[in-house]
Amino acid sequence: TVATAAEDMPALPQHDWSFKGPFGTYDRAAAQRGFQVYKEVCSACHSLDLLYYRNLTELGLTEDQVKAIAADVQVPDINDDGQPIERPGRPSDHFKKPFPNEAAAAAANGGKAPPDLSVIVKAREGGPNYVYGILTGYVPYDKLTPEQIKEFNVSKDDNFNLYFLGHRIAMPQPLDDNKVTYVDGTKATLPQEASDVVTFLAWASEPHLEARNRTGVRVILFLLVMAGLMYATKRAIWADKH
Ligand code: HEM
Repeated sequence: TVATAAEDMPALPQHDWSFKGPFGTYDRAAAQRGFQVYKEVCSACHSLDLLYYRNLTELGLTEDQVKAIAADVQVPDINDDGQPIERPGRPSDHFKKPFPNEAAAAAANGGKAPPDLSVIVKAREGGPNYVYGILTGYVPYDKLTPEQIKEFNVSKDDNFNLYFLGHRIAMPQPLDDNKVTYVDGTKATLPQEASDVVTFLAWASEPHLEARNRTGVRVILFLLVMAGLMYATKRAIWADKH
């Protein structure tokens, strides 16, 4: 039998994300490096439909940088006669899709379409740790145990991933040491690239997290002050007067 039940899965790697918890913020440098990883690696197969190029200014890129990034891609449009054309992108464009539609995406990837990554960090159980696990969880065929090969029906052409349900994943290992050359000089190890791209995708999934966290902290502070005032008021009103 081929085991696919969630109980067979190893625990996800736990990572210390800057954006976790009530005071969480996105590490801007990490997110910018993560965008570089998305752009140079993931975007060959995965769309990021909910993002516009102009959103990148929120990560600290300048308007000129964003204009240049957008202008670097050719996006489909129609001209004044209604004819389909391609033109250089603008900051107001959606991120370009790698494939025109789901069927083309599946055809190019062995029958499985790469999912859109806009909300992947929110959509999958385990969130950032899951996506990080997928990116770092490949085991080459010659490192698999005979039991794993038999139990999960793995052949030499399959990609085995520790954290993917059923373990055989249509995505070939996308990252490796020095897959990118970081513009900020950071050493591009596999774990570094993975945590950077996860930080970028977490921001894409939830760009307003920091504002929400700030509001939450203010609300709690307000409630604490209010509770103190109410307590003092209660003491004053009900004080014994002799
Ligand atoms: C699936 C992330 C690069 C092809 C996935 C999944 C994630 C992901 C999170 C979802 C797993 C799930 O459904 O739970 C990434 C990231 C990349 C990247 C962050 C860049 C670092 C690529 C590249 C390709 C690709 C370059 C094509 C060569 C696919 C395919 C699937 C997939 C075909 C579907 C797998 C299946 O359902 O078996 N990717 N990916 N990915 N990715 Fe990627």
